[in-house]
Amino acid sequence: MQTKYIVFTSENSPEFIEAAMALREGRLVAFPTETVYGLGANALDSDAVRSIYTAKGRPSDNPLIVHIADLEMLKPLVTGIKPDALKLISAYWPGPLTIILKKTGIVPDVTTGGLDTVAVRMPDNFIALELIKRAGVPVAAPSANRSGKPSPTMAKHVLEDLNGRISYIIDGGPCKVGVESTVVDMTDEPAVILRPGGITPEMIERVIGRVELDKSILERKAVERPRAPGMKYRHYAPKAEVFVVSGNCDDVAGWLKNAISEDEKSGIKSVILAAGEHIQEYGLNNAVSYGSINNASEVASNIFRLFRECDRMGADKIYVEAIPKEGIGLAVMNRIEKAAGGKVIQAGK
Ligand code: TXA
Ligand code: MG
Repeated sequence: MQTKYIVFTSENSPEFIEAAMALREGRLVAFPTETVYGLGANALDSDAVRSIYTAKGRPSDNPLIVHIADLEMLKPLVTGIKPDALKLISAYWPGPLTIILKKTGIVPDVTTGGLDTVAVRMPDNFIALELIKRAGVPVAAPSANRSGKPSPTMAKHVLEDLNGRISYIIDGGPCKVGVESTVVDMTDEPAVILRPGGITPEMIERVIGRVELDKSILERKAVERPRAPGMKYRHYAPKAEVFVVSGNCDDVAGWLKNAISEDEKSGIKSVILAAGEHIQEYGLNNAVSYGSINNASEVASNIFRLFRECDRMGADKIYVEAIPKEGIGLAVMNRIEKAAGGKVIQAGK
């Protein structure tokens, strides 16, 4: 299959309209969102949705998020929305918040991995919203990476993973958030966050009061049967082996210096991803800055791209300096710990 690569210019351009029509008719179209690039298919077309799993090499028990452009599109998909869910919708849509609700019969089983619930979100990205509107159908879209690879935050990452496997890629520049949306289950009380993301637990609590964190978020290892089925796979992972290094800055820097020099002696190519301030202060070798230690949003927008760059450099090992699990830092550390498969080093202990 030939993949058509479109650099977005206008929602009225012939190639954009062509892609939207193809999406409606059952073809796969990768598009930007504010979080990561999505691989879209018509959510109501079982065959189209099935082809997502094939293109990504994704297990088919892993349900997809259905993307909508306005609230009119939500109505036919879900039933029994509680007032708290409506409050979250009015506070954070469009935005990086996915809400799990009871599904209606029009949503095919393949879209929800056989569950009786459906995950829905309205992305905060002009191109995504225009594409969905033009297609005129809700759009099922997982992240547009091959299964197991880091999520794509640039169109070229999608091209690397899916060239020849999908019909269109729409290049809308880099994604601003950089980690996937928060997934919150609103079918039960209290609400449960199944995956941390751009909308923090504090932001949710401000609107609806108490919210729980699913145990898969609190544990570093993948749990066997998480409530968001996608969280059970080794995920977001580069080819290199990833380690999280945590502790106070002096201890972390000391541990990293030692590890790098040991690895060099044994011919292991290792790369450090750490805070810019610390790289400078401690003069770390083989280190790349993921941003400032005081700016988790900056780390979020860089981390997946850096994982891919480490692979390109041929790294065998990646050591990532931990950041505080506050605000969007919770989501960033969740992705890094998943990539590390639970390998967390406490420096200085
Ligand atoms: O930011 C995002 O959410 C991106 C962009 C493209 O919108 N999409 C994304 O999709 O990250 P995906 O498929 O990579 O992750 C969807 C997550 C998975 O962990 C999946 O198990 C969970 O949402 N999920 C989907 N439907 C669910 C449901 N009905 N119940 C529980 N978890 C669900
Ligand atoms: Mg994904």
